[in-house]
Amino acid sequence: MAKLKANINVDTLNLNLPVVEGTVGYPAIDVSSLHSHGIKTFDPGFSSTAECTSSITFVDGGKGELLHRGHPIEQLAEKCEFLDIAYLLFNGELPNSREKTIFTNAIKEHSLLHDQLTNIFRGFRRDAHPMAVMVGVVGSMSAFYFDETMKVGNLNHRKLSAQRLIAKVPTIAAWSFAYSNGSPFVYPKEELSYSENFLNMMFSGPNIKYLQNPIITKAFEKILILHADHEQNASTSTVRLVGSSGANPFACIAAGIASLWGPAHGGANEATLKMLSEIRNERRIGEYIKRAKDKSDNFRLMGFGHRIYKNKDPRAIIMKATCHEVLDELGLRNDPIFKLALKLENIALEDDYFVKKKLYPNVDFYSGIVMKALGIPNSMFTAVFALARTAGWVAHWNEMLTNEKSKIGRPRQIYTGKLRRDVPNL
Ligand code: ACO
Repeated sequence: MAKLKANINVDTLNLNLPVVEGTVGYPAIDVSSLHSHGIKTFDPGFSSTAECTSSITFVDGGKGELLHRGHPIEQLAEKCEFLDIAYLLFNGELPNSREKTIFTNAIKEHSLLHDQLTNIFRGFRRDAHPMAVMVGVVGSMSAFYFDETMKVGNLNHRKLSAQRLIAKVPTIAAWSFAYSNGSPFVYPKEELSYSENFLNMMFSGPNIKYLQNPIITKAFEKILILHADHEQNASTSTVRLVGSSGANPFACIAAGIASLWGPAHGGANEATLKMLSEIRNERRIGEYIKRAKDKSDNFRLMGFGHRIYKNKDPRAIIMKATCHEVLDELGLRNDPIFKLALKLENIALEDDYFVKKKLYPNVDFYSGIVMKALGIPNSMFTAVFALARTAGWVAHWNEMLTNEKSKIGRPRQIYTGKLRRDVPNL
């Protein structure tokens, strides 16, 4: 195929701009030379902007396809563990058995926190939201890892930082919950897997033994796998932007966690559960469906619709199957909140408005229900998302620093303020 070119006329200026094409997906006009002509592009929210080239994740919203390093999410979710995906995102290939053993052992080794970090936890109000604690504690790790072993220009140092982050964020997340609950901190255990360790740190205690259930562990792994990466979303772009100045990786990931915390990003599954408890009764579903369709009411059915996936969200299909498996295993199909969720799912899937607008339940509708069934409190939903997304964040951070053409992110603006004026004599 002939190389695409873009022709842009700005008043009397005629410019032939190159077009950047990836291996698959949309073309992008390379506007980087426009600034030398005194022109900028204007794209609030960046919907028409490709900020970088990346070989980590590909999303085709029309087809409903999600690929990590070329592998479809359906196959990854079926055949892999979360740590395989974390390895794949960072290194480009799935680990062989030797690489897997080395990586898994490294993650286990780094899962403990420096003992002084407990003092940082204790500085928070006891009722602090776990995400507030995570932003603070993950950021504070930059005070522990900033020496000669932490040069961002060195690939081995970046690998070590990535491993520390993937290993420690679950411990920090579980301890954030323990702290908000007034429970003692439970340490990670050598004999447990990544997901088992998180569940054990969340739910066991000095007098409570947490009994691992393989269906529950598998469901939790699926949540982690499905949330591991989703190309240049708000939090990943935040990590890349912060990292572009050469900042410490722990500070970069803390910024990603802060971005994820916003209700427009990581908060949808929490919002779904809030909506379900507000609806409360199956008899009130009709009233809420009516409100969701009413243009004069800003209520929306939370957990329905997606900005990019307009035909199907492949993650939602996988999560739906897991959701039904977990409800069956735990005998929760008749629990009022889950019954309500399943009824709402059916009604919305058959309702003309939702069918025509292609508004089907998204991954967060089901992941919220699964987490609730697993006993994970609403306040921890986004924290779980953060520990999964850490795998994607460190991979993108590393990719950006590996690319010789990367430079500090510095967008411009269109100034709409006052013109130059003198300060009056006061
Ligand atoms: N309930 C009712 N109507 C909806 C919903 C919904 N959940 N979502 C979209 N619509 C309607 C809109 O009112 C609009 O109708 P119109 O064409 O008559 O004006 C139409 O569908 C298109 O909606 P947009 O807002 O233009 O679609 P967009 O792609 O911008 O929004 C979004 C996607 C933000 C996810 C939206 O569907 C929504 O708000 N959903 C609820 C929140 C949610 O679940 N977010 C999680 C997304 S998944 C994730 O982040 C991992």
